[in-house]
Amino acid sequence: MNGRKEIIGPCTLYLGDCLEILPGLGKMDALVTDPPYGVLLGETKNGQERNKNRVPYAGFSDTPEYVRDKVIPAIKMAMSKTMRGLITPGTRNCFLYPFPDDMGVWFDPAGTSIGRWGFVLSSPILYYGKNPKPFKESGASSVYGKRDRDKEIQKLHPCPKPLAFITWAVNKVSLEGETVLDPFMGIGTAGVACVNIGRRFVGIEIDEGYFDIACKRIKAAVAQGRFDFEEPESRERTCAGT
Ligand SMILES: C[S@@+](CC[C@H](N)C(=O)[O-])C[C@H]1O[C@@H](n2cnc3c(N)ncnc32)[C@H](O)[C@@H]1O
Repeated sequence: MNGRKEIIGPCTLYLGDCLEILPGLGKMDALVTDPPYGVLLGETKNGQERNKNRVPYAGFSDTPEYVRDKVIPAIKMAMSKTMRGLITPGTRNCFLYPFPDDMGVWFDPAGTSIGRWGFVLSSPILYYGKNPKPFKESGASSVYGKRDRDKEIQKLHPCPKPLAFITWAVNKVSLEGETVLDPFMGIGTAGVACVNIGRRFVGIEIDEGYFDIACKRIKAAVAQGRFDFEEPESRERTCAGT
């Protein structure tokens, strides 16, 4: 059922199509998102897939057309609501994205998938807007880390990102107390990361099954109670420069 809104601690979660929900949201600080890659995930052995047992997404077909017609317009809208952004677009369709201000990679030596020219050992990271941290504190723009092999998490979603990587990404692009937006939230890994390191979070997910799992994971993180959140100041600038 579309149209649900859940508020869990510092997180506001929406069930529905982000293209429909984003226009009604106010300004936020940073975008951290991992949209569908448009690789026919789990649908065909020609998809950019490594794990033959991986199932397709529930609710939509992961095609390049979906990236062009749904994901890119949603990304542009999300960028108009935020000051900066970090996106993991996958390799196959990353050139459909708006030209970034900088790039990095997430390097996984064990391989993330199979590409047309061999095993894919890294995923691009696209940066938009201005680095919020002084250069000395900001560290590298790329990161080394292994895909999450947690079998329980892998059963919940076709391609969850490792919590360690998403925590690095949230920390990279936002400051403590800021609000982070993920319009392609999946099972809420970015929300868990935000709760753990003291950010507010706004997440949107189109599939009710994944949405329910996100609510559960974020509730569990909030229950650990690591942060008291104060009201954020309003901010006006956006990473799309509007
Ligand atoms: C690559 S997954 C994100 C996984 C996430 N990083 C995690 O660790 O759980 C992309 C997610 O976007 C969702 N999605 C696809 N189209 C959407 C749309 N139009 N609005 C909101 N969510 C959408 C999919 O259902 C999927 O769960």
